[in-house]
Amino acid sequence: MTTHLTSPTAPGWFAGLGVGPGQPGLLPVASLDVLRGADVIYAPRSRVSQASVALAALRDLDFPAGRVQEVEFLMDGDDDRIGGHYAALAEQIAGQQRQGLNVAYLTIGDAMTYSTLGYLVSALRRAAPDLPRRVLPGVTSYAAAAALTGFPLGEGRERVLILPCPDDLAALRADIASHDVVVLMKVGRRLPAVLDLLSDLGLLGRCALAHRLGLDGEVILPSLESLRSETLPGETLPSGPDAARLGYLSVLLIRGERPGRFA
Ligand SMILES: C[S@@+](CC[C@H](N)C(=O)[O-])C[C@H]1O[C@@H](n2cnc3c(N)ncnc32)[C@H](O)[C@@H]1O
Repeated sequence: MTTHLTSPTAPGWFAGLGVGPGQPGLLPVASLDVLRGADVIYAPRSRVSQASVALAALRDLDFPAGRVQEVEFLMDGDDDRIGGHYAALAEQIAGQQRQGLNVAYLTIGDAMTYSTLGYLVSALRRAAPDLPRRVLPGVTSYAAAAALTGFPLGEGRERVLILPCPDDLAALRADIASHDVVVLMKVGRRLPAVLDLLSDLGLLGRCALAHRLGLDGEVILPSLESLRSETLPGETLPSGPDAARLGYLSVLLIRGERPGRFA
């Protein structure tokens, strides 16, 4: 009698990749290798955008684009809703891994900096602790902005603060006073008010802004003085639709009261 042994399918891997903020070519070489070996590539897209920003960062690269599946990403809302969303996605990915498929998940900028990948990795850890998974880092939006504008992110023992823009401008004023450099992410609709604050503090010339890095409509300002010079004496800083729009997908680099050593 012959016995047939069926070998179980080896599980595939999961890899979370930071693809950089949008400029082509900022994907680490190791991540490109991983991407080329993936059977399924998840590209998160926000409900309000037409296309995945993460996918735009991969343009011009040679990888199996036919394997991309866009998924809606969820950042805001109550914890139960977010938890449920990523638990369901983790179950789906774990199922694919058990079928032997290799799965990549793209995130803009760095993989673990203010990224939904953190939720997904936790959900995968709970859903499938036995399955292989890893995360490869990427270039953050603020690292790219600093490089493009020649803005040092801390010299010597300077204190650098990275935070999402608060609604409370008094809190932001205190943060600027207690740090040498402040990196402001998720500025959004608060930009006009932040510009007013920076103008009051006399810091506009020491700040840089990068909007939609590497994407259509990109704006890079190594100084914000130009925003002031466009306003008439006695007028407040731009607060119309343009200034409001400029805040979205933007990172603001602020140098506080103390000038840099070589400024
Ligand atoms: C959800 S966080 C993602 C951060 C990202 N993981 C990183 O490492 O920069 C979104 C924020 O990142 C910044 N950001 C991401 N992509 C950007 C881009 N292409 N241009 C300017 N800012 C960007 C903005 O501050 C935006 O509000």
